[in-house]
Amino acid sequence: MKQIAVFASGTGSNTARIIGHFRGHPTIKVSLVVCNKPGAGVLSIAGKEGVPTLLLEKEAFFRGDGYVGELKERGIDFLVLAGFLWKVPAALVKAYPGKILNIHPALLPKYGGKGMYGRYVHEAVIAAGELETGITIHFVDELYDHGQVLFQASVTVEPGDTPATVAQKVQRLEYTYFPEIIEKAIDHPPHLQNQR
Ligand code: GRF
Repeated sequence: MKQIAVFASGTGSNTARIIGHFRGHPTIKVSLVVCNKPGAGVLSIAGKEGVPTLLLEKEAFFRGDGYVGELKERGIDFLVLAGFLWKVPAALVKAYPGKILNIHPALLPKYGGKGMYGRYVHEAVIAAGELETGITIHFVDELYDHGQVLFQASVTVEPGDTPATVAQKVQRLEYTYFPEIIEKAIDHPPHLQNQR
């Protein structure tokens, strides 16, 4: 059984759909939800779904082993970041080479990097007068929103769109594609260039 740990900081609507997608799956399961924010919505989603949760302590996460020991002990094979706002420490990237996926609500490499999340991304896209936006699902390396891109899907930005309406269109793409792209990445790990 391949075991996934989903990392999230917020509402967890993507996490809920990922858990649902793999419920009853023969070879893949979401075994853990990892969160850095006490009281985040994703924690009650995990509770309702009967998925164990792990609350990260900042010092231990950034100064220690990035919880590698704990994740390996729990038999975690794959990490999925679904709205996780902390940067993944090098120790964790090194422990899971080619096995950490992130979803970003824009067409990287534009509108990525530190501080570019949620509405800030959609505001920047509208302010720049972009005619389209979308999602990027990529492998995680030591830099923010920088690893090898696995999948992108786009949607038009129309006159009159607001950050909220763009967020809605992007979120529909996230819900549609993220679970199946995760499944493909686990079942058929693509060859990663410059794999350590
Ligand atoms: C999504 O917009 C995702 O693209 C970004 O963080 C958000 C997570 O939302 N990485 P939710 O917590 O899954 O509702």
